[in-house]
Amino acid sequence: MSIEIDEQKEYIKKIAEENLNKNMKYTILTMGCQLNENDSEKISGMAEQMGYSKTEKFEEANLAIINTCCVRENAEERLFGKVGELKNLKEKNNMIIAIGGCMMQEKHMAEKIKKSYPHVDIVFGTHTLHKLPEDIFKVINSRKRIQDVIDIDGRVYEGLPISRANNVQASITIMYGCDNFCTYCIVPYVRGRERSRNPEDIINEVKEVVKQGYKEIMLLGQNVNSYMRAETKRGECKSRINSFAKLLREINKIEGIERIRFISPHPKDFSDDVIEAIRDCDKVCKFVHLPLQSGSTNMLKVMNRKYTKEQYLELVEKMKNKIPEIKFSTDIIVGFAGETEEDFEETLDVVRKVRFEQVFMFIYSRRKGTPGDKMENQIPEDIKHKRFDRLKELVETQISENNKEYLNTIQEVLVEGPSKSDETMLTGRTEANKVVVFNGTEDMINTIQKVKLVEDHMWYFKGRVIKEL
Ligand code: 5AD
Ligand code: SF4
Repeated sequence: MSIEIDEQKEYIKKIAEENLNKNMKYTILTMGCQLNENDSEKISGMAEQMGYSKTEKFEEANLAIINTCCVRENAEERLFGKVGELKNLKEKNNMIIAIGGCMMQEKHMAEKIKKSYPHVDIVFGTHTLHKLPEDIFKVINSRKRIQDVIDIDGRVYEGLPISRANNVQASITIMYGCDNFCTYCIVPYVRGRERSRNPEDIINEVKEVVKQGYKEIMLLGQNVNSYMRAETKRGECKSRINSFAKLLREINKIEGIERIRFISPHPKDFSDDVIEAIRDCDKVCKFVHLPLQSGSTNMLKVMNRKYTKEQYLELVEKMKNKIPEIKFSTDIIVGFAGETEEDFEETLDVVRKVRFEQVFMFIYSRRKGTPGDKMENQIPEDIKHKRFDRLKELVETQISENNKEYLNTIQEVLVEGPSKSDETMLTGRTEANKVVVFNGTEDMINTIQKVKLVEDHMWYFKGRVIKEL
């Protein structure tokens, strides 16, 4: 552990002493992707060690944290709405309000919070998350407002406490930042340059979650298949585990893990060694999220994705050849600057050819500071929406066709717990992430069960457990 984290642990201790027997509570609202969720789990870990217990209700909280996202525009309105609401609550409860995450790395957003929302006590960035205990300590003791955002790339800090939100799947971040600069995307500007965690630290964390009983892990990074690339280039990687493929193989050896997933890889970095590692590692799910973004070679060039339509399709074919049972999900952006009807048709064409199991569809949202925002040929909103609806229709048709192939098959389901819509039933997921709801007993939770899929409900299946004789 580093001196910086030791220092923060001292602050944590001091706050815990002040909070002792006071029934202090914290709440956290997380926006955005699973990396943000994982950051929030670290924030929760710190808050709990500081003596705050978790509540879902802002009204009950003494410490309210919002972890923001800025990938798309709608998050901004949501944030301002929420921060506005907190003003009255703060007057009643005298709560500490901290806002952090990606959006706070955008100067204009941090400034706006500072100017327009004086009731916010702490603004922290993605590189200063680990300093939250110090920031909170200062607010408690001086009641001054704190702005703790830095621009330089944060280091990789190990040893922060973590309180995981999910009981079945443990998320483990393997690298931070992104060097790709896709022209639509704000992430490289708010998360900084790529930096990988040491393989030993990752492996220790996996072993730790196995001890806690987790069966599935999700390896996280903006660009997981360039794991350790920057470090290797700079001659800084001291480990023999110096690539994503090697990391997968190493984690696959750890006993107790049943499923290994990862998001997100970049198609341009999907080298043969990664494909072979997926093939050879029995625990790595044969279900890969492979962000397409657009099916048009022209648009891919404008987006700076560094692959063509043909290369994407060849990659999918190659993976299918090496791993016949492999399935895919993807991300697609509709209506990026300059997208013509023909470009959009190319996207539909790739969707038809690959037959994804899941498609995360996004309407392009202009982000200040990105090259995409400065492009002149922006697409009118109504056209973007119409294209989005057409894509959605195609995707839904394909999903229902895919579902037919799953019906009456027996799948391995990792059981998560009672179904939200019907507490008497259990819910879980197949290797290809299909939700299955079925009758079962409590002892099945957090185990893998063989389940026959007997009814198709589009977004989930009803299933029946197959008892082994
Ligand atoms: N507008 C819309 N979607 C975006 N994404 C990233 N930036 C934008 C943007 N400006 C999508 C991409 C990415 C996913 C996480 O979010 O599809 O893969
Ligand atoms: Fe954004 Fe592209 Fe990096 Fe993904 S790879 S985070 S889309 S810049």
